Amino acid sequence: MNPATPFKTIRRHMSPGVATVYRAAGRGSHESEAAGATVRLADGREVVDFGSYGMAQLGHRCPRVVEAVAAQLRTMPTATRALANPAVTEFVRELTRRCGPDLNRVWLGSDGADAVEVATKLAIRVTGRTRLLAVRGAFHGKTLGALALTHAPMFHEGLQPLLGHVTHLPPEDPDAVAREVAEGDIAALVFEPIRGEGGVHPLAPDVAARWAADAQAAHAFVISDEVQVGLRRCGEFSIAVARGWNPDAVLFGKALGGGVMPISAMVATSALFQPLAQDPSWHTSTAGGHPLACAAATAALAAIDEHEERAREVSAGVQAGLRTLSKTHQDLVAEVRGTGLLWGVDLRLPSAHGVIAELAAAGLLVSPCLSSPPTIRLLPPMVATDDEITRAIEVLDTVLTEAK
Ligand SMILES: Cc1ncc(COP(=O)(O)O)c(C=O)c1O
Repeated sequence: MNPATPFKTIRRHMSPGVATVYRAAGRGSHESEAAGATVRLADGREVVDFGSYGMAQLGHRCPRVVEAVAAQLRTMPTATRALANPAVTEFVRELTRRCGPDLNRVWLGSDGADAVEVATKLAIRVTGRTRLLAVRGAFHGKTLGALALTHAPMFHEGLQPLLGHVTHLPPEDPDAVAREVAEGDIAALVFEPIRGEGGVHPLAPDVAARWAADAQAAHAFVISDEVQVGLRRCGEFSIAVARGWNPDAVLFGKALGGGVMPISAMVATSALFQPLAQDPSWHTSTAGGHPLACAAATAALAAIDEHEERAREVSAGVQAGLRTLSKTHQDLVAEVRGTGLLWGVDLRLPSAHGVIAELAAAGLLVSPCLSSPPTIRLLPPMVATDDEITRAIEVLDTVLTEAK
């Protein structure tokens, strides 16, 4: 393929800005293959991938997931939707087994936003109420319903009034939910245990516990959006379940398809799920619960369990490297925050985007934080090698030194 082709096509038919960014990031080359935390470019160079917006938690081309998808592809890649499909039911069984006895109902979608949509629709329908509580700095996706819960004003521009009546709560205020439920009409509290796109900011566990209890005392539902931080990225399979916040729904996405297939899931209590148990046609998606995606996800769950120990080692290695960098580059690095396989590095700059582009060109892919421009987000895979971690930290060191 002519190496100029992807940029020309992106410029002409997709986005000129993205074409420029991709060209700079790949130094004129483009991605061609990948395995684990390493991506090879068409010009033969290799870069470390600690980004991919969280999809590649198991690294690229996780062998167990690729095998499972290949086997499903050879037998029955799509579902009739008229007959039971064991690839789907096996995944549902494996997923619910990991979520505790109360979260025993599952809806399957294709991306994070559609899991947010179904959970909030159910909460409104079951309670007969119209108000939703979310958190300042929250990110829940960009479809019209999910967008109302996403806080960043730049994504709301030109679209008001948005769907739903959403109040965004200050994350440090333990009384915020009690105050809002006193006003009435709250259908659900929707929160991320750690705001990822918002800059890697955890919700204080005592605040989250109090909010969840106050919402449930008012018979409002508690929805934990773990699209980015669940599935052991931050240690626990579900943070809300592990901390005893008794969520009525937990949402998963991104890494759920093992970095091979897109899939999302809402795991819910029978009380929240009731309209769908009665009439599954009430909220459907043609490709949701696709057998190829379910085969990938079943294998991904097993692989995530398998790599738990390595994930702790990767986390420790990345954390140690970032802590050293924050000392060496105190003039540029304001703060390093994170846990597990999710880290945020705040630069003392209005935006980290220039540095992120330099990092890519120098051999390290990371993700920006869409709602927190000064933050560099690192999402290292569970399978990163010590050598890949060392290279990642070296590239950061070089680029931060040059950025001064
Ligand atoms: C917490 C959270 N919820 C929902 C979404 C939306 O997911 P998607 O982009 O797959 O629709 C994201 C995406 O970053 C997310 O981080």
